[in-house]
Amino acid sequence: MSDVDQYLQQHGPRFEEELCDLLRIPSVSADSTHKADVRRAGEWVAGQFRGLGFKTEICETPGHPIVYAESLGVPGAPTVLVYGHYDVQPPDPLNEWKTPPFEPTRRDGNLYARGATDDKGQMFTHIKSAEAWIKTAGKLPINVKYLIEGEEEVGSEHLEHFIATNKDRLKSDVVVISDTSQFAAGVPAITYGLRGIAYFELKLTGPKQDLHSGSFGGAVTNPAIALSKMLAALIDADGRIQVPGFYDDVTTLTDEERKQFAALPFDEAGFKKQIGVDAVTGEQGFTTQERKSARPTFDINGLTSGYQGEGAKTVLPARASAKFSFRLVPKQDPKKIQAALEAQLKKLCPPGIRLELVSHHGAPGVVVPLDSPYVAAAARAIEHGFGRAPVYMREGGSIPVVSTFRQQLGVDTLLLGWGLDDDNTHSPNEKFCLADFHRGIRTSAHLWKELAAVKS
Ligand code: BES
Ligand code: MN
Ligand code: MN
Repeated sequence: MSDVDQYLQQHGPRFEEELCDLLRIPSVSADSTHKADVRRAGEWVAGQFRGLGFKTEICETPGHPIVYAESLGVPGAPTVLVYGHYDVQPPDPLNEWKTPPFEPTRRDGNLYARGATDDKGQMFTHIKSAEAWIKTAGKLPINVKYLIEGEEEVGSEHLEHFIATNKDRLKSDVVVISDTSQFAAGVPAITYGLRGIAYFELKLTGPKQDLHSGSFGGAVTNPAIALSKMLAALIDADGRIQVPGFYDDVTTLTDEERKQFAALPFDEAGFKKQIGVDAVTGEQGFTTQERKSARPTFDINGLTSGYQGEGAKTVLPARASAKFSFRLVPKQDPKKIQAALEAQLKKLCPPGIRLELVSHHGAPGVVVPLDSPYVAAAARAIEHGFGRAPVYMREGGSIPVVSTFRQQLGVDTLLLGWGLDDDNTHSPNEKFCLADFHRGIRTSAHLWKELAAVKS
């Protein structure tokens, strides 16, 4: 066993304890009451880099701070840019957690906490792997730059400006991100595609205040009915999105791609069981695997109107609103989708209703090339860390910065995920398999050496 691997084995238990310390900080970026906690998590991460002797800076933004750290001690070797995020999703619904979201708890080989896998636990693997090199070999075999942000879960609003204004500082040969999943337990993956997103909030207003539904119902447009109809009209019975022009820039999947999707060891019965449904549905003519990673979609994320309390109340609500989003595939432009959607909603809006459409965030989808020596290096590192070669897949989630790295820095990203698709990210009882945490660190430590050997 190498010195590095030995160090990792010896210090593994402490790494878990340190991760628990980070997980105890409720860095919920969407919730302004947690603003100070988000900063505290950023400072905690910066403290880790300072402990390794990296040049470290907490970079202020109009929102949550960005942590930047670098160690450039290997002239001639490639430079890798590691991206991750220290912010987390809101933990609600709180009463569905078996143990509190910010009290990390070990159960059945897993660590349960909000952010355990998305992304604190995964991001941390790349810090501990650096520590192992520094503590055994005295330094890393490659130049590293770390960009760890606190706004990923709210759309990375200020990151693009930071990247655009720090191009020289961020210059690198390859980006590494661990914020995705393995294909299945024991089947590690390199992800080569992510979907984009366009997220909106639609607010409808009818009468100036709530009304008695007996006295006024039938004579006034009900905003909740208007909202239901408008949203329902955005998708047809075949699962096709009904916004004019929506599919214009969607690339058709090639036979080769569809063959690759079909060849993945996907167990549809197990998938249904895992999420507790008796049928899977979606766009006609596509498989589940294609629907959830390579086709655009429409989802309602939140609905609000009328009486939500106990029992019944006969009310005609004055307002109704919905949060909803489209997942996009590469080449679809979130701005273009927004304009087309706005026009369509105005057309669908009935008399007696005023409409406001708020755009929360948007990011294009990406596919990254697989024919690069860095991908081959990553595959070897994964084989070392996980004991088997990775499969290649696309994922349905979004990481807005991946397309920014391509556009602003001209650099491609390696998406190396240590998570599992039953990790309950964004849901109650988020977890990270501890064995995968350690396999991730081992892979990362090996990756530095493999990437260093690539001639740039
Ligand atoms: N880690 C996820 C991205 C992800 C999810 C990748 C599932 C692969 C599979 C990331 O933290 C995330 O949740 N991103 C948001 C982005 C949005 C807020 C702009 C997402 O996908 O909803
Ligand atoms: Mn994430
Ligand atoms: Mn997330």
